[in-house]
Amino acid sequence: MMRIGVLASGRGSNLQALIKDWKQGGLIAEIVAVGSDHEEAKALQHAQEAEIPNRAFPHKKYPSRWEQEKALLSWLQEQRIELLVLAGYMRVLSKEFLKKLRIPVLNIHPSLLPSFPGLHAQRQALDYGVKLTGCTVHFVDEGLDSGPILLQEAVPVLPEDTEDTLADRILEVEHRIYPQAVRLIASGQVERVGRTVKILDL
Ligand code: GRF
Repeated sequence: MMRIGVLASGRGSNLQALIKDWKQGGLIAEIVAVGSDHEEAKALQHAQEAEIPNRAFPHKKYPSRWEQEKALLSWLQEQRIELLVLAGYMRVLSKEFLKKLRIPVLNIHPSLLPSFPGLHAQRQALDYGVKLTGCTVHFVDEGLDSGPILLQEAVPVLPEDTEDTLADRILEVEHRIYPQAVRLIASGQVERVGRTVKILDL
């Protein structure tokens, strides 16, 4: 079983989808650590309820960004994780952190990247007037939502959509493709060649 760590800053619905998939035997992996930069994050409660070791690393408790990342890094390393999954983690991880962690890091973003990176991706899609948006699972590099893409799925934008209705429909897809992405990695079906990510048949 691949040992997985998850970082989440807030509500944690993607974390819940991953926990559900794992507990139902879908993930060939186990979630062994959940970290957050917010003590009150709902995600930590979900972890607690699922009896997963969890810890908050609030920025205000550390003298610098790097000190916070160092504490997080050593905790994740103690849990011997092999894959780090960002599920609504609202901080960009530094180049140093990624270099020292030395394992793949995944993120999910609510748009079809490279369109609409950064905050409020659903709002950006509505403001632009696109007819299709969606979500993207990608490997994390030092940029903002810029790493190699593993999975994407489109979601139509409806004329009556608000930011909330669109976000909800995208979220349903997120909850399906994020566990799928983790399963693909855990089963060794993912091969990265530069920016291109290949999915191999078993
Ligand atoms: C999701 O929309 C995800 O795509 C983005 O942050 C949000 C997290 O939601 N990165 P949740 O905390 O998983 O409910």
